[in-house]
Amino acid sequence: MAEDLHKDKVTRGQFVWMGVGGGIMGATLGIPSAVYVLDPAIKQKFAGGSDIPDDWILAGSVFEIPSESVKVYKVEFPQKQTYDGGGEVLDEGELILAVLMSWEEGKMPPLLEGRGRADLSESETKELSKSLSVFSNHCAHLGCPVRWFPERKEILCPCHGGIYDINGGYIGGPPPRGLWPFAFEIRENGDVYVKHEFPGPGSKPYVV
Ligand code: FES
Repeated sequence: MAEDLHKDKVTRGQFVWMGVGGGIMGATLGIPSAVYVLDPAIKQKFAGGSDIPDDWILAGSVFEIPSESVKVYKVEFPQKQTYDGGGEVLDEGELILAVLMSWEEGKMPPLLEGRGRADLSESETKELSKSLSVFSNHCAHLGCPVRWFPERKEILCPCHGGIYDINGGYIGGPPPRGLWPFAFEIRENGDVYVKHEFPGPGSKPYVV
C-alpha cells in the first residue's frame, strides 16, 4: 500500500544537510536501486538475484495530484532474494521506493478541475494517462534521492547538483538523462498502479 510522502518546503540550510544525508543514502539505497534499474546488464556479475514480481502495485490516485507540484508516494514492491541462479529463496520482503507523480508541465487536465472523486470513463483514463508522469526519485547520475523545490519549480539532486523539470526531464548538471519513468496504468476509480518496470530512455516525456 502506498503512503503519501509529500513534504513541506525546505530551507536552503536544510538542503545542504540533505546533500550530506543524500550522499550517504545514495551509497546505501541508490546504488542497489540502480542495480535493479540496470538489470539485466549488471545481474550477471552477482551470484545472487532479486525477484520482484511483475504485478501492478497501488501507488496513488489522480485525484490527489495537484497542479504545479510533484506528489510523492512510498510504494512497497514485494521481493524475493534468491541465490545462485535464482533457485533457492533466501529471504522475502519489500523493496520500498519513492514514486513521484506530476501532470505535464504542471497543468492539471481540465477534466479533473473542480471534480470530486468519481469513476472515470475509459476515454478519460486514456486522456489522463497522456498527461501524467510517473517516475523514480533516484537521480539518473549516481542514484541519490532527488526532491521537488516548489520555489524553483524544479527537482534538484543534493549530491552533485542535477536539475530536472516538474516531469523528471533533464535540465542540467551531471545526470546523463531524465529520471527513470515507471510503467503505470490508471484504473476506473482514478487509482494509479505501477510496475517495477522502467520503459527506459526515450519514453514520454524524458529526453536523453
Ligand atoms: Fe545526482 Fe550526482 S547523484 S547529480
